[in-house]
Amino acid sequence: MFVRVTCTWALSLWSLLLICTWDATALEVVRQGSPCGPNEVPWPSEDGAFHCEAFEEAWKRAEAFLNDNMPPWDLLNRGTLQLGLLPATVTQALQVRQNFSWAAEVPEEIWLNYVLPYASVNEARTDWRRLLFEALKIDAAKRSLAEVTQLVNEKLWSAVRNDTTIVFKAQQTPLIYDTMSAIAFGYASCTGLSIMFLDALRSVGVPARLVGTPAWHGTFADGNHNWVEIWLGHGSGLFGEAWTFLEASPAGPGEHLLNPCDKWFCNPSHFDGKTMSFAAKFDREKEKFNYYPMAWDMENKDIPGVNRTDFYNSICSKC
Ligand SMILES: *[C@@H]1O[C@H](CO)[C@@H](O)[C@H](O)[C@H]1NC(C)=O
Ligand SMILES: *[C@@H]1O[C@H](CO)[C@@H](O)[C@H](O)[C@H]1NC(C)=O
Ligand SMILES: *[C@@H]1O[C@H](CO)[C@@H](O)[C@H](O)[C@H]1NC(C)=O
Repeated sequence: MFVRVTCTWALSLWSLLLICTWDATALEVVRQGSPCGPNEVPWPSEDGAFHCEAFEEAWKRAEAFLNDNMPPWDLLNRGTLQLGLLPATVTQALQVRQNFSWAAEVPEEIWLNYVLPYASVNEARTDWRRLLFEALKIDAAKRSLAEVTQLVNEKLWSAVRNDTTIVFKAQQTPLIYDTMSAIAFGYASCTGLSIMFLDALRSVGVPARLVGTPAWHGTFADGNHNWVEIWLGHGSGLFGEAWTFLEASPAGPGEHLLNPCDKWFCNPSHFDGKTMSFAAKFDREKEKFNYYPMAWDMENKDIPGVNRTDFYNSICSKC
């Protein structure tokens, strides 16, 4: 913060005086991240610059997006969500966009689907965003989305409990697979740790989504797996895409953001051409609805999805 000081020279009868005034109304917030004013939200424009939108306008659009695309079981509960979770989510998500340079770079369509949403699948609805943001304590220094991702994966697991770190424990879904439960119990399996990791990334403005397969080799008896995709910007992900993938570090210690082959599952024995992979998103795009298959609730086809089969088959069959 700074106070604007204005000085003027005044010629008095006896001397030349320097008169300075502290302009209290000019108390301004210096947002290191934002190219826009304090009540504006930055959005990237085509030419590499930013356009600034009034906070209130951006807020209304974001809230409308969540309302228009929430899954049917949330619609039944919309009145309650509108009293608590939705406004808290929208305000916090927009403020992070204002305050952090890496968050301001994310295009609107990506932000709406992969930063703003309060949930990924049918996990419990809780207000994890501010809690994780505050626990992570990431300062507003200039960083890339990749650097923030690594920092979050290093800090998160010991940042939310002061007695233990959060660990991997197999076979917890669908008992423990939302962020608050993982924090309360101190463990989760791949789905729960992935959801907690991507929630933490979203809490600091990094676009991330749940991805996985409901059945290795297309055979349910072979098991399922979930991990996290992170959006790093056009062409900055794997093989010219914007996306790359990673696991929560308790589930996949020592993995690197841009090395697909250091993931234990990314190899031809898991991607034999019969394994189908999908990522969860929020936008229901009513005309071409693809769904994200939830291994723990296969009858439920109400989570919109992106088919990632070709991406993983082409990458992991070469590891
Ligand atoms: C963003 O910055 C403003 C001004 O410093 C501050 O009041 C607000 O709490 C910050 N919010 C977040 C989520 O960083
Ligand atoms: C966490 O730390 C606080 C303050 O030191 C202490 O009161 C509390 O008991 C601790 N909680 C756990 C779970 O260790
Ligand atoms: C997903 O993509 C794969 C590979 O292109 C295709 O074989 C499969 O039918 C698609 N699945 C769905 C549900 O669209």
